[in-house]
Amino acid sequence: MQELIDNIVKKNSELTKKGKVADYIPALSKVNPDYLGVAVKDSKGNLYYSGDYNKKFTLQSISKTISLMLALMDNGEEKVFEKVGMEPTGDAFNSIIKLETMVPSKPLNPMINAGAIAIASLIKGKNSEEKFGRLLSLFRKISRNDKLDINEEVYLSEKRTGDRNRAMAYFMKDVGIIEEDVEEVLDVYFKQCSIEVDCVDIANIGLFLANRGIIPDTGEQITSEHIARTVKTFMVTCGMYNASGEFAIKVGVPAKSGVGGGIMAVVPHKMGIGVFGPALDEKGNSVGGYGILRDLSKEFNLSIF
Ligand code: DON
Repeated sequence: MQELIDNIVKKNSELTKKGKVADYIPALSKVNPDYLGVAVKDSKGNLYYSGDYNKKFTLQSISKTISLMLALMDNGEEKVFEKVGMEPTGDAFNSIIKLETMVPSKPLNPMINAGAIAIASLIKGKNSEEKFGRLLSLFRKISRNDKLDINEEVYLSEKRTGDRNRAMAYFMKDVGIIEEDVEEVLDVYFKQCSIEVDCVDIANIGLFLANRGIIPDTGEQITSEHIARTVKTFMVTCGMYNASGEFAIKVGVPAKSGVGGGIMAVVPHKMGIGVFGPALDEKGNSVGGYGILRDLSKEFNLSIF
């Protein structure tokens, strides 16, 4: 197993040359584009890793899976899906276009930026600190890492420059999707995107979802099986944005990417996988990370289809 994973990372390291590090959030542009690493944690507790598996990166959109989980736990399905739809889009993750043209006017799903910002507004708490604090505690628990925290530089960088997200949030406030103070909601969203992790952390979160919402080490049930299943289903249909269809064919497992270069993959009942490679393709997904997942899926016959 270890030798195989080492070879897969080595083989895909050339791919990183084909991608580009995200620079629309200025602090993200400083990272070395050649990094590539993976961690795999299976349901028996075995952990395998290779390459730059312990380099830190920010969750970015990977955080949308767990914010959705918390919003569903806080509000129930009916309220959440009143505000956000369940359908994939063929558009980019930060696209504005369908927000106004859809009737009723609501984001298509919780994995695109507009949908995730609406989801952040549903997390319970008396102010943005308490809301984010609850989300961070949840991340610490399911990643098995008490030290998780935000990368302040990335958080402030996005807060300063995230005007497209800000525009979408104010639009959603106008049409009643967001009921809270917009800047407070954005603060929760920018902070959740800035949580700093490594491949092992996201492999642990993936394994928790693979294990139907139960932390494997402790047996603690954090969320219902139904909510864990809803999150995984969104990962299949929308997790890789407008590359989700191709990813389902080539890899075939629930996965969520982030512009920090991470991808969290879930092999139901079997394993959680975290990959990191900050060089991204034009759809915002890690080029090398995608390659590693494709090879792992082929080698171990992981597709759920
Ligand atoms: O809101 C944004 O644009 C970023 N904080 C997150 C986007 C993202 O990770 C898209 N993923 N591939």
